[in-house]
Amino acid sequence: MHLQPSLLPLAALATLLPAIHAAPVACPTGSSQILANTTYGPVPGQSSIFSNDTSKTAPFPAYFTAPIYPTTNTSAGPDDLLFQNLLAAEWVIYSFYQRAVELFNTSSFAALGFPNTTYTRVTEIRDNEAGHLRIFQNQISSSSIKPGACEYYFPFEDAVSFLALGTLIEISSMAFLTGLVQQAQLNVSKGALMAVAETESRHNTWSLIDIWNVSPFAGPADTVYPYANQILDTTSAFIIPGSCPGANPIFPTPSQHLPTFSAANDTTSLVPGTHVTYNFSEPANQPRFEPGREYYAVYFHGLDNITTVFDTAANTSTIPAEFETKGVIIAVITDAPGAPTLESVLAGPGIILEQPTVIAVALAE
Ligand SMILES: *[C@@H]1O[C@H](CO)[C@@H](O)[C@H](O)[C@H]1NC(C)=O
Ligand SMILES: *[C@@H]1O[C@H](CO)[C@@H](O)[C@H](O)[C@H]1NC(C)=O
Ligand SMILES: *[C@@H]1O[C@H](CO)[C@@H](O)[C@H](O)[C@H]1NC(C)=O
Ligand SMILES: *[C@@H]1O[C@H](CO)[C@@H](O)[C@H](O)[C@H]1NC(C)=O
Ligand SMILES: *[C@@H]1O[C@H](CO)[C@@H](O)[C@H](O)[C@H]1NC(C)=O
Ligand SMILES: *[C@@H]1O[C@H](CO)[C@@H](O)[C@H](O)[C@H]1NC(C)=O
Ligand SMILES: *[C@@H]1O[C@H](CO)[C@@H](O)[C@H](O)[C@H]1NC(C)=O
Ligand SMILES: *[C@@H]1O[C@H](CO)[C@@H](O)[C@H](O)[C@H]1NC(C)=O
Ligand SMILES: *[C@@H]1O[C@H](CO)[C@@H](O)[C@H](O)[C@H]1NC(C)=O
Ligand SMILES: *[C@@H]1O[C@H](CO)[C@@H](O)[C@H](O)[C@H]1NC(C)=O
Repeated sequence: MHLQPSLLPLAALATLLPAIHAAPVACPTGSSQILANTTYGPVPGQSSIFSNDTSKTAPFPAYFTAPIYPTTNTSAGPDDLLFQNLLAAEWVIYSFYQRAVELFNTSSFAALGFPNTTYTRVTEIRDNEAGHLRIFQNQISSSSIKPGACEYYFPFEDAVSFLALGTLIEISSMAFLTGLVQQAQLNVSKGALMAVAETESRHNTWSLIDIWNVSPFAGPADTVYPYANQILDTTSAFIIPGSCPGANPIFPTPSQHLPTFSAANDTTSLVPGTHVTYNFSEPANQPRFEPGREYYAVYFHGLDNITTVFDTAANTSTIPAEFETKGVIIAVITDAPGAPTLESVLAGPGIILEQPTVIAVALAE
């Protein structure tokens, strides 16, 4: 049955809720399969549900959580793998906003002094993200599986930490899209990725102005980072291990499972020029530094990168003072200046927000 949650009365929604959030079923004839028909249902850009569906429950197509199985046996499309990775990441991002729509209401934000439109904007962003799910499903050819939803854990406790994490997620999306666009084979894929990056940038612009009260601008260019899957891999921290449908491709593919890091607890600033101590915070996934060998911290900002020495005795490096204190700086630990290859990256990436500084410091703690 095709359900349109926004049209149902509230009591009916309450009883539907367990079904909507049921674990994805790996069944080729499951209801998600109707989405294999790319013209089925509301069309992003033509239906207002991807902008102003105000329901608290999952909107179309997110209430179909199972993978969509291939319906043809021809060879995969040239950008299928790219969009499979992106769709799996989009399930993370969409679910982050869906969780907030369920947990909060207008007064959750207004009571803290945020504009009284905040909850509405968060809901609109959730709707946009649902539109991204449909867009990415339809960018994958009928010969490849379209990943379904997993279960997720998001480390926010309240409205403020949700908004801060949301700003980081939008920034990360903008950054990995600059990498994915470099991998895309088809021109139409490049255009689609660019259009979605612009949307994430609009979301971020809204929060910088309305929520954080800072200038929304990041200088003449946002930050380009070529190894998109490394950033996608960091979003897998939000996926509850073992919760993905068995038929989903491994996310992301390929993946290096690089050690992640954060700035040490006593860090109070991450502005350019700061000497930072890195903390490789996953005990079971540590980088191995060979004695006597030179290692580097490479920082990406705008279209450029600057290499600094990484002191493996103290695990420290200095964020290049040359960079403007604006937008995003992406840091990686490498065994070669300039991070010339994927394999030269040994840890990271770490995403540093230069504005608002209040979030940058929260992330450093
Ligand atoms: C796909 O969906 C459209 C819109 O609902 C419908 O008109 C069409 O018949 C469907 N195609 C198939 C093959 O089921
Ligand atoms: C959503 O937008 C459409 C078209 O712009 C409008 O007709 C509709 O009333 C809006 N719905 C809500 C709930 O705001
Ligand atoms: C594709 O081919 C395999 C092996 O011949 C077959 O099992 C499967 O049903 C086919 N799938 C479709 C969608 O035609
Ligand atoms: C918002 O949620 C709070 C806490 O659950 C509740 O007390 C309040 O009545 C809700 N406000 C509205 C406008 O729904
Ligand atoms: C929301 O805030 C604006 C500006 O502060 C105010 O004019 C408006 O009355 C408020 N609306 C509600 C529903 O509280
Ligand atoms: C992409 O666009 C360029 C420039 O118009 C064209 O030369 C090229 O053939 C296109 N590539 C594909 C895969 O369509
Ligand atoms: C490094 O991170 C781990 C894991 O979060 C934490 O337990 C440890 O205290 C941190 N160390 C420093 C110096 O920040
Ligand atoms: C660093 O912060 C973590 C998490 O808050 C805490 O568990 C740990 O004890 C702190 N470590 C140091 C060295 O302060
Ligand atoms: C630096 O990081 C390495 C790799 O995780 C670790 O073995 C070493 O103890 C760290 N050094 C300091 C001073 O924390
Ligand atoms: C970093 O900058 C150097 C120097 O401009 C360049 O050669 C290198 O390709 C850049 N690295 C990446 C990963 O783009």
